[in-house]
Amino acid sequence: MSALNHKMLDLFTWVATQFWLVNYIQRLRFLPDWFPLQFKKVGKRGLELQKRMRYWPWEQMVDHFKRGIAGPSIALEYLEKNENLDTVRDVLGMVYSAGVDTTASTFASFISQMLLHPHVQRRIQAEIDGNMGPGDALPSFEQRPQLRYLDAAWRESMRLNPAAPLGISHVSLKEDVYEGYYIPKFTGVISNIGYASHSP
Ligand code: HEM
Repeated sequence: MSALNHKMLDLFTWVATQFWLVNYIQRLRFLPDWFPLQFKKVGKRGLELQKRMRYWPWEQMVDHFKRGIAGPSIALEYLEKNENLDTVRDVLGMVYSAGVDTTASTFASFISQMLLHPHVQRRIQAEIDGNMGPGDALPSFEQRPQLRYLDAAWRESMRLNPAAPLGISHVSLKEDVYEGYYIPKFTGVISNIGYASHSP
C-alpha cells in the first residue's frame, strides 16, 4: 500500500506544480483520448491510481474477512453488519488517502522539531508528567485541555512545516471578491498555506 501511496503522492505533487493548458481552455478535455496531449495520459494514469487506492484496500479487507483473519477496524464492523458496503468502502478510501500521509508527515515534522529543540521536548514531557496520575500509560483525550504547552508546540510545528503547503487546488464556481481582489468565475485558486503560516 505504501508503494501505491508514494506513486500517488509523486504524481499529485508533480501535477500540482505544472502548467496545464486544459485548466485555462477547459474544452480541451473533450478531445478524444488518442489525441497526443500529455494531460490525457497523465489523467488516465491518475484515474488508474485513484481506482486502485479506492478498491484495492477494500478487496484486501474483504479477503481477510472471508478468511477470518481481519483485525478489528471500522471496515470489519460494517462487513459484519453487511450494511452500506459501497459507501463504507468509498468513505474509508477517502479517509485513508486524505488522512494517512498528512498525519504521518505531520508527526515526522513534529519529531524532527523535538530533536532540534530538546528544551521544548523536556518542557512537554514535564507537562505530561505533571498532568498524569501515577500509572497512567498515555494521556487521554479528556486530559488534552490541560496539555496546553504540548498543544501549542504541536500547532507551532504544523505552522513551521505544514504537510500540504499549497493545500489543494480549487476552482471558483462563481465570481467573487476577496479582500478587494476580484476572482472571476472558473479561476484556479491555490491556497498558499506555507506562505501564510510564515507570514503572520
Ligand atoms: C495533520 C493531518 C492533516 C493535514 C495537515 C491535512 C490537510 C488538509 C488540507 C490542506 C486540505 C485541503 C483543504 C482545502 O484546500 O480545501 C485537506 C482536505 C481534506 N482532508 Fe485533510 N489533513 C489532515 C488530516 C486528515 C485526516 C486524518 C482526514 C480524514 C480522516 C482528512 C480528510 C480530508 C478530506 C476528506 C479533505 C477534503 C475536504 C474537501 O473535500 O473539501 N484529513 N486536508
